[in-house]
Amino acid sequence: MGPQFWHEQWQLNHIGFHQAKVHPMLSEHWPVLGLAAGQVFVPLCGKSLDMAWLRSQGHTILGVELSPLAVADFFKEQALDVSTRSAEGFDWYENDGFQLLCGDFFHLEPRHLEKVAVVYDRAALIAMPPQLQIRYAEHLLHLLPHRPPILIITFEYVEEEMEGPPFSVSDQRINELFGHVYSIGTLSAVDALELQPGLKGRGLNWLAEKMHYLHVID
Ligand SMILES: C[S@@+](CC[C@H](N)C(=O)[O-])C[C@H]1O[C@@H](n2cnc3c(N)ncnc32)[C@H](O)[C@@H]1O
Repeated sequence: MGPQFWHEQWQLNHIGFHQAKVHPMLSEHWPVLGLAAGQVFVPLCGKSLDMAWLRSQGHTILGVELSPLAVADFFKEQALDVSTRSAEGFDWYENDGFQLLCGDFFHLEPRHLEKVAVVYDRAALIAMPPQLQIRYAEHLLHLLPHRPPILIITFEYVEEEMEGPPFSVSDQRINELFGHVYSIGTLSAVDALELQPGLKGRGLNWLAEKMHYLHVID
């Protein structure tokens, strides 16, 4: 599941992962966390409307996304002009508190994320097969030595019933990837099968969607 796969998904408009609404777990749980306004890092951001919602709550957004189609669409759909420049191996699309870096997450360096106050991962970790999840988690931890809180939304299902993406990520898996550094709490867990008819149609009989909150206790 390399870059070519994702470029093709965007070119063919095979973007079933994109949601036409702000994720309900985000709008429900984010305010309760009482996080001060700051920069939110959105890995593998696509053109997610969640970024616009986070901006409306006073945060600035740093996203990274492989597909230039996704990044350009985001600004178009938000009716925002955009300035672009190339630097440090990325194309930077910027305006109004949004900074979307078009390029490969794995090429980011810690200096790019120095100001990040919170990470919001919806459909980034679960977009990757298990071996790549390990690389993703290791790189994320490398990028964030100041250990800001991380929100991760996962799907969990019986792996034999469907081939990802999205890939199933269990609580145990989250713990293996991040538990040596972060305390992990589950803010929300819902039976999502009926909410995801596309995934049900691919053969799932059970699907849980969860929001995990990872934070370092001082
Ligand atoms: C499942 S989609 C989720 C998009 C977004 N988070 C959302 O909720 O709609 C995964 C996205 O990650 C992007 N992607 C995959 N691998 C990437 C990488 N190594 N670096 C940056 N973006 C990547 C894909 O182009 C795709 O838009």
